[in-house]
Amino acid sequence: MCGIIGYSGHRPAVPLLIEGLRRLEYRGYDSAGVAFVQGDALELLRAEGKLGELEKKINGRNVNMATSGIGHTRWATHGVPVERNAHPHMDNDQRLAIIHNGIIENYQERKNELLAKGYSFSSETDTEVLANLISEGVKETGSIMKAMAWAFARVEGAYAVALVSPDEPGVIYAARKSSPLVFGQGTGENFVASDIPAFLPYTREVVFLEDGELVRLDANSWQVYDAKTLEPIEKEIHHITWDVQSAQKGGYKHFMLKEIFEQPRVVADCLTGRLDLVKNSVRLPELEGLAVPKRLTLVACGTSYHAGLWGASLIESWARIPVRVEIASEFRYRDLLLDGDDVVLAISQSGETADTLAGMRRARELGATVLGLCNVVGSTVSREADHVVYTQAGPEISVASTKAMCSQLTVLYLLALYWGAKKNVLPAEVATRALAGIHSLPQVLEAELPQMRERASELARKYSYVRSFMYLGRGLSFPLALEGALKLKEISYIHAEGYASGEMKHGPIALIEPDFPTFALAMRDQLFPKVKSNLEEVQARDGRIIALTHPGLDLTVDDQWIVPEVWGPLNTFLDLPCLQLFAYEMADYLGKDVDQPRNLAKSVTVE
Ligand code: F6R
Repeated sequence: MCGIIGYSGHRPAVPLLIEGLRRLEYRGYDSAGVAFVQGDALELLRAEGKLGELEKKINGRNVNMATSGIGHTRWATHGVPVERNAHPHMDNDQRLAIIHNGIIENYQERKNELLAKGYSFSSETDTEVLANLISEGVKETGSIMKAMAWAFARVEGAYAVALVSPDEPGVIYAARKSSPLVFGQGTGENFVASDIPAFLPYTREVVFLEDGELVRLDANSWQVYDAKTLEPIEKEIHHITWDVQSAQKGGYKHFMLKEIFEQPRVVADCLTGRLDLVKNSVRLPELEGLAVPKRLTLVACGTSYHAGLWGASLIESWARIPVRVEIASEFRYRDLLLDGDDVVLAISQSGETADTLAGMRRARELGATVLGLCNVVGSTVSREADHVVYTQAGPEISVASTKAMCSQLTVLYLLALYWGAKKNVLPAEVATRALAGIHSLPQVLEAELPQMRERASELARKYSYVRSFMYLGRGLSFPLALEGALKLKEISYIHAEGYASGEMKHGPIALIEPDFPTFALAMRDQLFPKVKSNLEEVQARDGRIIALTHPGLDLTVDDQWIVPEVWGPLNTFLDLPCLQLFAYEMADYLGKDVDQPRNLAKSVTVE
């Protein structure tokens, strides 16, 4: 989730760009940079780390003559977070500099073509490929704007880009496809950014750019074009009334809520470049050279552990690989039986969780191959693993993990398909349904989230008096029962137990009484009759029940919460946000500090 800002006007651009990037810091980043034209030269300043590091490089340099430029904060997706990979990137001729948010899926193909033409690259990024592709386009078409259209026709993936060139001083070009980009109209100055807070102190007049649109701006004029045909497009200007702080949360009250609502986008981003719907296969080039594991151990903590429990069932079923799932803080201290035939997959959003890291290191000492499944590029897990698969979910700011789990489920789903196909044990019809299903999942999820939130809010009001909750689920819903209970206790401080439904009768049933309700996952699958009879046991003890269920199932409970049914394991992606939203609404209704629950930090780096 990189931050982008472009400015052309009457003020010194560099300090304004830095200040704008600072207002985008909430998006998370690991390096930053600016580019601007001074005289005839294109200047580039970049630094690894926080904006302070970039400012150190700028201090003492005379940059105040520049009144236009572009700035970027990078959240690494290609290549480690070091200065050479930081944006902006220049073309080989140093006649243009670009910043980019998103992922160019076919960058390797384009890079090979450019290499063959004699271009060279100093970074590992897809962005430098795009810079040189546009440069090649200038040679082909004779103008920057035409070159952008030429280059966009040759790339697949998602992008929001902004570009400056000493050949057109004071002009900024920006364009988007599937990555956010807004234009801000000032007086004698104009802006472009990935998010409104970047320029909100200067203007509240905003144009929302759509996919496939390109804007050309200078200090006094601007025009939006169709990025393919370069036909001008009329755009409406919107007046923004919110303040910077609420704008950073995208209008949501809390980051947790924003991140829950980001999940459709997270699934789409996570799939970017990984689905081949023509060949009906999953591409995971990160795992090239790795044989299909004979035995797999998943190691993680908290929510990541729950994702692992879910993924294990899928990997066993689709790839026929024996999998065990371990809580990292237990795994690391056990007398482990691992050797060179074992593959250990460490799952961690942050990539910095101390127990998960210690587990990985022990596995490596014993000769196992170590894989990392994490979100933060350049994190310790990603550096120490033999292979890393990134979740590409963007930074998660809320302490309670939501969108990260959704992205972990997506990668585990892909891994099950990938290994299943490699081992030749995955029936073709399963692969077809699984791939088509996950491809269309983001739209389904997007459409459902508003209703889910409404239902969560109704139920939270009704049950807010409760001090204890039981969560029950079986099969693929069992990890969700654990996750639902974890979310509720973590942010609302209501006691919650997550149990496998069938395990109820072995003790916890003693707790059931009218004020200890049950949140049941009673979905349409082969285990539904079993779940139903477990719920009858709860009802026999006067326990009240909320049941998350599918349409048309025969179930009589106090409150039904019907979610639409999709296909097999994809249902989990619709059930998970219901549990997250219920916990969120409970905590918010009770006035808790949702984004910063007591006693918790984002990443548990101490033992
Ligand atoms: C729960 C939560 C934690 C983390 C756990 C692992 O909402 O955030 O349970 O899931 O601390 O963190 P990572 O995935 O960063 O290793």
